[in-house]
Amino acid sequence: MLKRENFPKNFLFGTATSAYQIEGAANSYGRVPSIWDDFSKTPGKIADSSNGDIACDHYHLYETDLDLIKNIGLDSYRFSISWPRVISNRRGKINQEGLDFYDRLVDQMLKRDIDPFLTLYHWDLPSFLQEIGGWTNRDTNKHFRDYAYTVSEKLGDRVKNWITHNEMWCTSFLSHHIGMFAPGEQNLKNGFTVAHNLLLSHGLATKSLREHSNSLKIGIAPNYLPCYPATESKLDRRAAELYDGYFNRWFLDPLSGKDYPEDVLEFVEDFMPKIETGDMETIKQECDFIGINYYNANWYKYDESIPLLPCKKVQPDNLWFTADRDVYAKGLYDTLYRVNKDYNFKDIYITENGAAFDDKLEIDSNGNKVCHDQGRVRFYKEHFEQASLAIKDGIPLKGYFVWSLLDNFEWAAGYTLRYGMHYTDYNTQERIPKDSAKWLKDFINN
Ligand code: NOJ
Repeated sequence: MLKRENFPKNFLFGTATSAYQIEGAANSYGRVPSIWDDFSKTPGKIADSSNGDIACDHYHLYETDLDLIKNIGLDSYRFSISWPRVISNRRGKINQEGLDFYDRLVDQMLKRDIDPFLTLYHWDLPSFLQEIGGWTNRDTNKHFRDYAYTVSEKLGDRVKNWITHNEMWCTSFLSHHIGMFAPGEQNLKNGFTVAHNLLLSHGLATKSLREHSNSLKIGIAPNYLPCYPATESKLDRRAAELYDGYFNRWFLDPLSGKDYPEDVLEFVEDFMPKIETGDMETIKQECDFIGINYYNANWYKYDESIPLLPCKKVQPDNLWFTADRDVYAKGLYDTLYRVNKDYNFKDIYITENGAAFDDKLEIDSNGNKVCHDQGRVRFYKEHFEQASLAIKDGIPLKGYFVWSLLDNFEWAAGYTLRYGMHYTDYNTQERIPKDSAKWLKDFINN
């Protein structure tokens, strides 16, 4: 059986959340609206017509939430800063009350001996920037750089690990081409423009954070999708390769000093933004680590009838399922192996991995509320196993953040999907540890 001691002593086990998904207090303490406030209030965008106004009320309950992390025995906590809580307008006016919240949050983490991993952008762009085109406007990159600097002035003395962007594919394509996430645009050119701006803004922010202090560790957290060919045929292998280029290499190549992938460019040239002199230089700031968000894998068949990329998703039939995805734990090993082999990042962290299940609250024979999420326990076990194999094979994996500490606002799915290891009762804001939290606690403490 896999144990904590199968991982190196200084390996970090942690959990992750993001601001809009848990904080609530969306209209208080000087916070201004974000694109997710606007989007979630647009009819038809969120499965249960909900929003993050209250969410898990973490803004008020953060101390007891940190106790949950401590109680499991986790080493670190990945959280995000809400940009619209900290900066109030396009002139960069600081909302002191917002900054003070994160100041308290970080102090309370350190008091509990929990190592903070801070994400600067987890999708809640201030609406005042969307008004000028949001991430399609290069000016937003400078706003991001200045915001990063402001946060580092406040927290840089205590937070060592910084993540600029979370899941750039989602911010670019899911939000600006597919239209499923805020701001809900359906324009492929905007998708590629945003992808470029996110990378540029990462470069600018990294430089500016380093100006503040050269002891900060700075990284970025793409969502990585292993792409396998449906058969070994040459065409299917090409389909898998192309999708990989669009989803993974599109971000990882420029971050590592390469150009955008040629094979994909051939198909999407007409949708590319103008790349200005010096852009690729700005993007390739050396990262101290790469964060990988891993959830699932896809298989592809070559299919010319599909517009743009000839890649048709066809999943094998031997996968098992969570509430919203199929599961392929070996994809995590393959991801780590590949990122390590093809790129030169010093350290790798799994910045997210987790699953949603149709969790039900029950009352046990002692009258206690319980939640038997055995599917999630299985999910964690299978993926931890793959992580430990990667370490055994010499891959510099340094930490693992489980998504998520508690059930929360799951974007377009609203509150209909539960990803937490604590069950959130949204009526009472009670957190009930599920079997997975108990399993993780046993695992950490052997
Ligand atoms: C990735 C995102 O970063 C996070 O916000 C989301 O809740 C999880 N995936 C689960 O879908």
